[in-house]
Amino acid sequence: MSVPEFYGRYADLYDRIATFPGVGRWRRAAADALDLSAGDTVVEFGCGSGANLPYLRERVGDDGRVVGVDVTRPLLARASERAPDAGLVVGDAVRPPVERADAVLATFVCGMFADPARVVADWCSLVGPGGRVALMDAATSTHPLGRSLNPAFRAFARGTAPADSPLEAARAAIEGEGDTVLDERVAAARAALVDRTERRQFRRFGLGFVGLLSGRVPRDFSR
Ligand SMILES: C[S@@+](CC[C@H](N)C(=O)[O-])C[C@H]1O[C@@H](n2cnc3c(N)ncnc32)[C@H](O)[C@@H]1O
Repeated sequence: MSVPEFYGRYADLYDRIATFPGVGRWRRAAADALDLSAGDTVVEFGCGSGANLPYLRERVGDDGRVVGVDVTRPLLARASERAPDAGLVVGDAVRPPVERADAVLATFVCGMFADPARVVADWCSLVGPGGRVALMDAATSTHPLGRSLNPAFRAFARGTAPADSPLEAARAAIEGEGDTVLDERVAAARAALVDRTERRQFRRFGLGFVGLLSGRVPRDFSR
């Protein structure tokens, strides 16, 4: 099943997970990490049902632009209800359908790319010198308490990743198929952001399962 088919089928469930009590604190932190100013243009890649968009709008104000890009139409339909003033685009974050931005946000998306380092490099080029990029992703935890929950996290990650059927997702979760792929992709995305930015900040949430990395592209950055 393709990504849009999977998220389209489970759009209601995904929206409930995306807006689960407590997750709003992480989303506010992600919006803050972009250090937005009134009038800025901010693009969220893989915006899903738009749970971050109101926080971005608060920070760029009425004169700013909030753009959400996603491949899944039913999630974008929810995003348009949640953030009617956002520009929503059906498009691929890997080939950004956007010409310029002051800042880019991607939450729980980088683990879905085959080559996350290249995608993050392209986003840094998109924002250009002085622009900001923030990535929030889930991966296994090194927190003393979180570590003991890593097996449950891996099963959750497999069970909520696009699969051909719920049975197939359950089988992959039980057999631990592809367990290291998510961690590797998240690490590659973060390494690419570290390579291309300065004034970075990193915060952890949720017993260390969720990491938020942000940085600013240097003024002397060449594309
Ligand atoms: C786990 S959800 C995260 C949604 C949202 N960022 C959030 O924090 O709730 C992953 C999202 O990425 C989208 N997505 C996956 N691959 C994509 C791609 N190549 N281009 C655009 N969106 C993509 C999916 O459609 C889905 O909405």
